[in-house]
Amino acid sequence: MFKKDFLWGGSISANQTEGESSINGKGLSTEDVRFYNKDIDRKNVQIDLKMTPENLEKILENEDKLYFPKRKGIDFYNRYKEDLEMFADLKLGVFRTSVAWTRIFPNGDESKPNLDGLEYYKNLFKEIKKKNIKLMVTISHLEMPLNLIRNYGGWKNKKVTNFYLNYAKTLIDEFDGLVDYWITFNEINHSTFFNLGLFDDEEKYLEKSYQAYHHQFTANAKTIEYGRNKNKDIKFGTMIGYMLSYPKTSNPDDVMKCLENNRLNNDLYGDVLVRGEYPWFIKKYFKDNNININITNEEIELLKRNTCDFITFSYYSTGTISSDANQKLAGGNLFNVGKNDFLDTNEWGWQIDPVGLRVALNNLYDRYKKPIFISENGIGIVDKINKDNTVEDDERINYLNDHIVEMKKAIDDGVDVAGYMMWSPIDLVSFTSQEMSKRYGLIYVDGDDYGNGTYDRYPKKSYYWFKKLIETNGKDIGSGNE
Ligand code: BG6
Repeated sequence: MFKKDFLWGGSISANQTEGESSINGKGLSTEDVRFYNKDIDRKNVQIDLKMTPENLEKILENEDKLYFPKRKGIDFYNRYKEDLEMFADLKLGVFRTSVAWTRIFPNGDESKPNLDGLEYYKNLFKEIKKKNIKLMVTISHLEMPLNLIRNYGGWKNKKVTNFYLNYAKTLIDEFDGLVDYWITFNEINHSTFFNLGLFDDEEKYLEKSYQAYHHQFTANAKTIEYGRNKNKDIKFGTMIGYMLSYPKTSNPDDVMKCLENNRLNNDLYGDVLVRGEYPWFIKKYFKDNNININITNEEIELLKRNTCDFITFSYYSTGTISSDANQKLAGGNLFNVGKNDFLDTNEWGWQIDPVGLRVALNNLYDRYKKPIFISENGIGIVDKINKDNTVEDDERINYLNDHIVEMKKAIDDGVDVAGYMMWSPIDLVSFTSQEMSKRYGLIYVDGDDYGNGTYDRYPKKSYYWFKKLIETNGKDIGSGNE
């Protein structure tokens, strides 16, 4: 069925799991100032939910009145040994996590790293290797030191490229032998939000976004160049939040709009990172939207010299594109998408589309002909834990099973898929909504949206299902959760 060395695995990020946000010299990151805003925890603090410089300062002034779920995470920082025992029991072949930049460079602009932070990751990574699990490390998972936003303007500022490079070089120097696969940026195409330095009220938002992306592209290329000069066998991959859209109707206007949308959301990033050049279509887009960004000839050469070895992408749902401005919307990963009447949704309105995964894999292979890892795929559900600490998460099993079935069809189509990492082997704090109750895990974590609970871990039904899937190398996929 699947080739023998196919890698089954799981993915998490530092900011959604570790907690201990100010221990051992760690600085504040952009994700540490996201507060849980649903109801009581705002305790009369009048804060506009828009992330503006004024609101950011207000959040910091009112820190004691707000609850910041990512500062607690799931206590992975202290419990990782216990969690890795379970991941090993699951027989994960590959595990992906990120490094918190602020553990290594608390403010981002120091010249020397924080040794306690390096020590923590060295121990974590050694433990993973001891369990015989391959390690994929994301250098920056949609977060950065808050100081680089407050005092430098984040990725809009070219200087940040050097701070990132200093950080990335430190990781490569310290951990290269332990890390099997490097990812420079998580979902690089979704990164011009506050977490990378753009405030909601910025003037010329679009132009600044593309300048920030450009700085990330060059930071990616410089990191690859440094890594390869050090170790010719080092492996770098992309990570694109693949947001596939379909035309809402066969109206040629919808079709054209959809084509443009997919190019801008997905292909632009893949082309720069894998082909090493800006795609031809971007020139007109920049011109039409009055976007002028600084790109030097040296940078064009730099991008060309340093392309990724493999492709990874996250896949959760799909959307539709319509030329009708009033089209109905569905929920989505980081932004809303057009509704598709053929698809069901989860409780957050994200459309469930296993076949879209096959389409995405075919598209990516067609375009780049490089080995592909699915680096995130999963479903957020409000799981109910029973009195005996069991969780019957059939909906998750069905979601994963149906997506794996379609991935297998893509492999049969001829796509070179090297591995599949589900999101996530363990419950964690939702990236967008800061909730614990939006659960993705195979392992239940006893914590609620306000940080109450024992944080003890319990395997769900999906844990046993995924374990069997790995043990049999996918032999029984398609049989769902009978
Ligand atoms: C991806 C991110 O965008 O989607 C993850 O890489 C995130 O960090 C995942 O958790 C699911 O999104 P959410 O908001 O439901 O946690």
